[in-house]
Amino acid sequence: MSTDTVVVTGAGSGIGRATCLALASRGARVAVVDIDGAAARTVAEESLRTGAAAAIPVECDVSSEMAVQAAFEQVGVELGAPSGTFANAGIEANAPLHQLSSATWQQMIDVNLTGLFLTCREAVRLHVAAGRGGSIVCTSSPAAFIGHSGGGNSAYAASKGGISAFVRSTAIDYASHGIRVNAVVPGATDTALLLAGVDDDERDVAAERIRAAAREQVPLGRLARPEEIAAAVVWLLSDDSSYVTGTHLVCDGGLMAKSANDF
Ligand SMILES: NC(=O)c1ccc[n+]([C@@H]2O[C@H](COP(=O)([O-])OP(=O)(O)OC[C@H]3O[C@@H](n4cnc5c(N)ncnc54)[C@H](O)[C@@H]3O)[C@@H](O)[C@H]2O)c1
Repeated sequence: MSTDTVVVTGAGSGIGRATCLALASRGARVAVVDIDGAAARTVAEESLRTGAAAAIPVECDVSSEMAVQAAFEQVGVELGAPSGTFANAGIEANAPLHQLSSATWQQMIDVNLTGLFLTCREAVRLHVAAGRGGSIVCTSSPAAFIGHSGGGNSAYAASKGGISAFVRSTAIDYASHGIRVNAVVPGATDTALLLAGVDDDERDVAAERIRAAAREQVPLGRLARPEEIAAAVVWLLSDDSSYVTGTHLVCDGGLMAKSANDF
């Protein structure tokens, strides 16, 4: 089972946390990787209570090459070679292009795209060395495929488009090693990321506006729960998806299937 020992990045919150708990409920061994060490510790404890055979918190900024290498070394020592990796850590900041600072652009690329590259590279190195294949799941976004009508999404969309291209290429490169590489594409999901950049005193109003938009625009009429995305990730990590590689599993409530031509 590729869910035996799994590294999850961005595991301290939202989709990553839900995936840790879903893996834990199946008795997996989980490395809970997050830049927020306290959140990683909390989710590791929750994972143990949920049934994980083992769970370790790993504080790591995925945009740091040294930190990612050290994280996978720690996982190797404490849990053994991973059978699967969920490269999920991500951030979002929106601004129209003419107001987008190079610092914001760079940070988005560093965390979302370079962080995913560094994570997957370490995972692939361990899988190749162990000679047992494995499964890697990357978190993309509808932004990789369609424009965001809210606007100001160019840096985030570019980082996620890069991830989707990376997944297809890497899947082909490592198929002969039995290493599968796929992407999950969450639609609007009820996590902290949805309110990134919103001031504290505007959060309730912003949350209700987002829920109303989901009711109106998403065919299934609501936001996703993180657990619904986690279920898809666990399937991609597991041997149940043994003939699936280089592809995208879209979990967006029908958003991308819907045409904008509703005149
Ligand atoms: N929530 C959505 O609607 C949505 C939709 C599509 C894609 N996504 C993607 O899903 C992934 C998870 O997001 P989420 O919605 O669960 O958000 P979240 O904010 O709840 O969780 C993200 C986690 O990543 C961690 N993180 C941030 N920067 C990091 C870094 N440099 N190194 C390590 N960890 C870091 C955060 O501390 C946090 O725990 C992201 O890649 C995001 O782009 C989310």
